[in-house]
Amino acid sequence: LSSSSTYTTPPSVLLLGPDNAGKTALLTLFERGTKPASTHTSQVAHSIELNASTDSVTRSSFRNHDDATGTHTKFFLVDTPGHGKLRNVAMGKLARTEKVKAVVFMVDAAALGEQETLAPTAAYLYDVLLFLQKRATSKGKDKASIPVLIAANKMDLFTALPATMVKSHLELELSRIRASRSKGLLDSGVGMDDVGSEEQDGWLGEYGSEKFTFQQMGEFDIDVEVLAGSVLTEEPGADKWWWWIAQRI
Ligand code: GTP
Ligand code: MG
Repeated sequence: LSSSSTYTTPPSVLLLGPDNAGKTALLTLFERGTKPASTHTSQVAHSIELNASTDSVTRSSFRNHDDATGTHTKFFLVDTPGHGKLRNVAMGKLARTEKVKAVVFMVDAAALGEQETLAPTAAYLYDVLLFLQKRATSKGKDKASIPVLIAANKMDLFTALPATMVKSHLELELSRIRASRSKGLLDSGVGMDDVGSEEQDGWLGEYGSEKFTFQQMGEFDIDVEVLAGSVLTEEPGADKWWWWIAQRI
């Protein structure tokens, strides 16, 4: 048995997203393998150890997570508080957790049709994506970029937007946020060619583009995918998210 693998820190997958999205419910579902626990608003980060496989028979279901066939990869799933006042806790996890292999950004698809949910959700996502973009462009040793899954949760509710609309709503709102945050720059009359790298660094996605799309993150090697699911019901369930994670750890 190789001792090196024993002492290696397992990779981490971070659960980010606004309050009430269902992050803790998802963590308990993966932990138990059966049904999620009832939850309270999280005030601290909490991580559990899980195992995922890409080559067992039941690989695409989270229900196989404690399978001990030896084909499984151990990883930490890190839940974070979504409340805006605790944003530093979540962003601190993103900045300081070792070996982050992926970010699952969970959203409440049933509430995203409301501007009062969409705006803060997109603002948080903006900060996460900009952080990852800056990390990807800085010349550090930890250069591998971190993929993002936008987990569109609560598909069991009739108000839930389908994944395509979750995507388009978020892209539109991110475009708005980007425009307003760069307003000072655009109003200053500085031509695009005169803009320094510092300004470009603060711009999310393709520099100077009018509309933000998740595809623009590809320029920084950051893959963003939107997948619909539900923590509380079997259908569509959480298997798609699990499979996405399993392929990235
Ligand atoms: P914070 O800890 O405040 O950041 O929230 P959170 O993202 O951890 O949310 P939590 O897991 O506590 O879930 C919030 C509420 O949404 C709970 O009442 C859950 O039962 C409910 N919920 C989670 N997933 C689903 C789902 O798929 N469908 C429905 N209908 N409700 C869900
Ligand atoms: Mg929570």
